[in-house]
Amino acid sequence: MRPAEQIYSNYTTDDFKVWELLYTRQINFIEDKVAFEFLESLETVGFTSDRIPNFKEVNNTLSKYTGWQIITVPKLAPADVFFNHLSEKRFTATCWLRTLDQIDYLEEPDMFHDVFAHTPLLSNKEYTDFFQKIGQRALQVIHEPKKLTMLQRLYWFTIEFGLIRSSEETKIYGAGIISSKGEAEYSLSNEPTKLNYDVAKIMNHSFRTDIIQDTYYVIDSFEQLSKSFDQIDNHLFN
Ligand SMILES: [Fe+2]
Repeated sequence: MRPAEQIYSNYTTDDFKVWELLYTRQINFIEDKVAFEFLESLETVGFTSDRIPNFKEVNNTLSKYTGWQIITVPKLAPADVFFNHLSEKRFTATCWLRTLDQIDYLEEPDMFHDVFAHTPLLSNKEYTDFFQKIGQRALQVIHEPKKLTMLQRLYWFTIEFGLIRSSEETKIYGAGIISSKGEAEYSLSNEPTKLNYDVAKIMNHSFRTDIIQDTYYVIDSFEQLSKSFDQIDNHLFN
């Protein structure tokens, strides 16, 4: 059974080792590949290699910046629950870590993905404006599968697998890339197709969760994301 809430004293010495190993390895690897906004936000939330983040402390910090909170769930929440939380500025995160012998292979996201890769940017105003609106619109169309799929695609190609242009260079900001060594390198290489952020294209672009992406969408800024909601609404409701 996965834990349903974070009881900090339950983390073992091995858990701390796993966090340290993953954190050190990944930060060294992505430092020159990730958006500066992510590095800034990592400092804001105060994550370090030697300490598994304590959700209470993280939430205290987030509440000062954006009012977002992370709440714990034992496993991936169903869509309606997940989007309901997003619409109320809550991100659902797991609080368990993979074991040392599973360090490179995971069947479902653990807290390294949810916390290291997703949580820092919850302190960024423009990013979270966009994120919250995805949740709000998804709730509005929760019984309309086609429209819900359009929003899930938007989520996928931004929050999970988005790239961003940052002083002439393309960088990563999607959590699915940030927590994966292989994809961080591949997504910035010449192999995959990189398209400019385009709401209409993304909403029509189906994706698979079981293979590495062949196409990524590149935004100019988080402001571009938050401002694109007029267009998103047009596609959803007109
Ligand atoms: Fe994720």
